Amino acid sequence: MARTILIAGNWKLNPADDAGALELLRQLKNRLAPFTRTEVAVMPPFTMLHLAAQILKDSRLALGAQNLYWEATGAFTGEISAPMLKAAGCKYVIIGHSERRQLFGETDATVARKIPAALQAGLVPVVCVGETLEQRESGQAQAVVHEQVRQALSGLPEAALRTLVIAYEPVWAIGTGRNATPEQAQEMHRFIRDLITDTTSAAVADELRILYGGSVKPDNARDLLGRPDIDGALVGGASLKAETFAAIVESGEIVS
Ligand code: PGA
Repeated sequence: MARTILIAGNWKLNPADDAGALELLRQLKNRLAPFTRTEVAVMPPFTMLHLAAQILKDSRLALGAQNLYWEATGAFTGEISAPMLKAAGCKYVIIGHSERRQLFGETDATVARKIPAALQAGLVPVVCVGETLEQRESGQAQAVVHEQVRQALSGLPEAALRTLVIAYEPVWAIGTGRNATPEQAQEMHRFIRDLITDTTSAAVADELRILYGGSVKPDNARDLLGRPDIDGALVGGASLKAETFAAIVESGEIVS
């Protein structure tokens, strides 16, 4: 098993303007140039994608978006399609982030429609799953994640599943500074991988990457990334500073 570690920076609704994005991209390009073993992606807001694609075109950094709509064109005010993201230079797209589920009404059903649209356009979906604090405390964490994964992946062909990325992001750890312990994360990642073995095959489960997300920082990254079933990180807050993001990528290099 040799899954390449993926460190992805989810910029969310940041930075405030193109000038900030430009500065961050230039710094990242410089700082990350020496790292060759991990794969790195940045996921800026939609309006900054073209700018980012230009800056990153001769670098190892890949580009990703934070959301998409499943139709390619049509009367869907405010939406962005998978082919548009592909044309803008994206390789990855986040689907079903918990902020979209909690604040913008996304459900397992909408997530399940978005994944095939992304795949059809040649994008790699980064599918987010994870339980709330209430669900964890009531012993429902695995059941919740099981159902999210089942609905997201059902009906997808095996070839598609191999390329897909899952991000386990416990909702209680996102932006809170409270990360899952490496043991808790490893346990859930193993659970997800076993689930995929049961529903598809061991070969697919072995290939598919499962990222951890939720308050990943330079001081916890190495321990998390060193666990056998943690294949990378989806980083929010700490991806907005070149220094902290590069330190997380460096942790990935060390354990690779
Ligand atoms: P955080 O966000 O690193 O700021 O907790 C992670 C995410 O939401 O993807």
